[in-house]
Amino acid sequence: MSMDDQIEVPKGTILFRQGDSSDTMFVVDKGRVRLTLGAGAEVGEIRVLGPGEFFGEMSLLSGAVRSATAEVIEDSRLLVIGRDAFAMLVRDDLATVTRMLNEQGARLARTNDPLQQQLQRLVRVRVIACVLQDLGAAMPVPWSVSLEVLAGHLGMTAETLAPIVTELVSGGAGTLEGATWKIDDRTQVDRLIGLLNTLAGGAAATRGHLRGPSAA
Ligand code: CMP
Repeated sequence: MSMDDQIEVPKGTILFRQGDSSDTMFVVDKGRVRLTLGAGAEVGEIRVLGPGEFFGEMSLLSGAVRSATAEVIEDSRLLVIGRDAFAMLVRDDLATVTRMLNEQGARLARTNDPLQQQLQRLVRVRVIACVLQDLGAAMPVPWSVSLEVLAGHLGMTAETLAPIVTELVSGGAGTLEGATWKIDDRTQVDRLIGLLNTLAGGAAATRGHLRGPSAA
C-alpha cells in the first residue's frame, strides 16, 4: 500500500468537521487550510496552515473525534495519510512522530490563550442566558438566586461562578449580597442584556429577541 495519496482540493471544501470520526491525517503540499472551532455564530479560527504543515493527526493518535473543522481556503494539493500508513509511520519512524508531536505541542501552547479567553466568554454567556431564561418566567423583578443553586443549574461550582457574577454585578447587572445574586429592577435586567450583547459581539441577542414584545 502506498504511504500516501495526493488529492487536489478546490477552495471552499470542508475536509472534515469538528466531532466527525476520523481515519486520515493530511499534509499541505500546496495551498492553505483553515482550522476552526465551534459552529454557527460561535466559530473561532485556530490557525491557517500552509505548505509543509500537517493536521488531523490528533484523532489518529487519540482515537477521539476531530477536535476542529478543516476548510480549504485556497485551491490545495494535500497528502492524505490513512490510519494504516499512520500506524506504520508510528512504528517505523519515531523521529518523525516525535517532531510532529513537538510541533503540535508548540501550536497548542500558542493557541491556548485565545481559546481560554473564548471559553471564558462562553461561560459568561451561559450564566447570563440561564438567568435571563429564569427571569423570563419569574417576572416581575426583583429576582434573586443563591450562587449555589445557579451554579448547580450551570453544572459548575459556586467557587467558579462567584468571580463571574462579581464581574457582572460590577457591570451594573444587579447586586451581590453574600452568596445571593439579586436583580432588583428593569434597569438591572437591561444592563444584563447589554452585557450579553457585548459578549456576543453585539450581533446576536437583542432585547426583542430575548424577551418578546412585552420587553419593548
Ligand atoms: P484532529 O483532531 O484529527 O482534527 C482537527 C485537527 O486540527 C487536529 O487533529 C489538529 O491537527 C488540529 N488542531 C486542533 N486543535 C488545534 C490547535 N489548538 N492548534 C493547532 N492545531 C490544532
